[in-house]
Amino acid sequence: MRSHYCGALSTANIDETVTLCGWVDRRRDHGGVIFLDLRDRQGIVQVVFDPDTNEHFERADSVRSEYVLKVTGRVRARSEATVNPAMATGEIEVLGKELEILNAAATPPFQLDEYTNVGEDVRLQFRYMDLRRREMQDRLILRSKITSAVRNFLDNEGFLDIETPILTRATPEGARDYLVPSRTHPGQFFALPQSPQLFKQLLMVSGFDRYYQIAKCFRDEDLRADRQPEFTQIDIETAFLGESEIMAITERMICELFKLVLDVELPSFPHMTYAEAMERYGSDKPDLRIPLELVSVDDLMQQVEFKVFRGPADDPAGRVAALKVTGGATISRKEIDEYTKYVSIFGARGLAWIKVNDIEAGVEGLQSPILKFMPDEVVAQMMERLGAANGDIIFFGADRARVVNEALGALRIKVAEDQGLVAEGWAPLWVVDFPMFEEDSSGGWTPLHHPFTAPSCDAKSLAENPGTALSRAYDMVLNGTELGGGSIRIHQRDMQEAVFGILNIDAQEAEEKFGFLLNALQYGAPPHGGLAFGLDRLVMLMTGSASIRDVIAFPKTQTAACVMTNAPGDVGAEQLKELNIRLRQTREELEKGE
Ligand code: AMO
Ligand code: AMP
Repeated sequence: MRSHYCGALSTANIDETVTLCGWVDRRRDHGGVIFLDLRDRQGIVQVVFDPDTNEHFERADSVRSEYVLKVTGRVRARSEATVNPAMATGEIEVLGKELEILNAAATPPFQLDEYTNVGEDVRLQFRYMDLRRREMQDRLILRSKITSAVRNFLDNEGFLDIETPILTRATPEGARDYLVPSRTHPGQFFALPQSPQLFKQLLMVSGFDRYYQIAKCFRDEDLRADRQPEFTQIDIETAFLGESEIMAITERMICELFKLVLDVELPSFPHMTYAEAMERYGSDKPDLRIPLELVSVDDLMQQVEFKVFRGPADDPAGRVAALKVTGGATISRKEIDEYTKYVSIFGARGLAWIKVNDIEAGVEGLQSPILKFMPDEVVAQMMERLGAANGDIIFFGADRARVVNEALGALRIKVAEDQGLVAEGWAPLWVVDFPMFEEDSSGGWTPLHHPFTAPSCDAKSLAENPGTALSRAYDMVLNGTELGGGSIRIHQRDMQEAVFGILNIDAQEAEEKFGFLLNALQYGAPPHGGLAFGLDRLVMLMTGSASIRDVIAFPKTQTAACVMTNAPGDVGAEQLKELNIRLRQTREELEKGE
């Protein structure tokens, strides 16, 4: 129908007759002349209709916002006075000759340029309208460029794109499963994959060697700004490559992607151990754009009477750490109170602080509620260790190490944002040497990554010291976001059984849930490993979006629902019967609280 995209027209098309299809962005009547801003996915162009075009002029006069039109006309230069530098096509306009109304539109639920006046729920309910906005179109166009660049890169590196099932068994990645009832096997359920993890490992056993897939994953977990119940991974697996080779290929992929799509040269990726990341940043996904660091002062606090600090300092599972904010002495008492409230979200029971007014004056030059509890020489040593200078504030956390890391790690980011201390640009890194397991609330072990990750030690030392064993896992982190994670996998049955044993999965359960994997490991499984990137998070970062919902065409709300289609929805009695399912309570009963 069309000869050109509206947004693609330029002075190069002057005097050409063009046919455009698009939506009415705006209609203005200027004393007998009708101006239509016509919009398509490439942009907007101004179309002018003079009264001498008769019926076409009348039609132009009758159209309203979001009508769909086909317009034929001649491209002409705008007069100097009417050039619009704010518009990509602002140097030209189209003199309309013919206008066909392809479809009328009801009054839109919101003006596209006034979308902030309505809540996100309305935008999601009328998502097809929301997606007409320039910003949303640009994000999804960039997303498409990203997946295409990733496919090109991986195809060129000899990776094969192989699909894996959506209807499957539980693939444990630490979240709840989405279940699908089976009609043909009454009383039984499929699980939607939390990731293609086990299938991609089996493809390595089959000899495919280099696999990738842009794969949908499903996880029923608490949602946040960077989490959706249904999201997409760039999923990768290789055989016969070690971790350094896997990290090198995928790092190159991300670097080439940034160069191609954003024309950005990423700096080289430092490697940092998990232990160092926790020690210095209180986080396993540190934002290295922020110059602030946590410093341990446990040894010094073992010399003070102040119980709040002394307790954790003496406790091997405790930590006392300081966070120095350069120039932070201007932070007010009220702001400190707010920060204290903020760290309490992470379980911190207080937030001690010292302001440095005059470092030369010793303790006299400091201002703090805790100085009275500490000998002067301890304070002096601490100031030296922290390199404190006039105008600084130092915050303290004392508790179990996990609480201190989470609280001060989060405070580090918040204070940096508030004080404008986050540097521009991109700060990528690899985090390596993760622990194999962490202790859960019942004193058992859970895998830090997933149960198929290889340890860096043998099965015997693993069983003897599960708490200190390290894994062969690696995460790629960019600007404080975990972009992707992966590992070298276990490829021997006895090691896999040893790990299941530590996780308290007995032989019978292992056989029932993962028998197919254990079997496959006996039939010539090659050494293998891989990783998966969160595509949505990658697009979020590359488009500078604050919410993951802004880079997904049809996302779910915070309560994991779709307000446009009203999913999830009720199911009729007949269908439930067919699936052999009886509801304990209907939705009406649940809502009434019966
Ligand atoms: P993991 O669970 O770390 O590893 O997931 C890999 C990456 O996927 C992204 N991601 C998410 N993105 C949006 N919403 C979510 N709910 C969500 N959950 C995870 C993150 C994360 O880094 N099978 C392993 C990978 C492997 O070992 O190869 C896995 O799924 O960016
Ligand atoms: P208190 O003696 O309870 O008044 O505490 C003195 C100072 O220590 C206050 O600034 C508290 O916010 C701070 N504080 C209390 N508990 C902790 C803790 N666990 N970690 C860091 N600071 C704390």
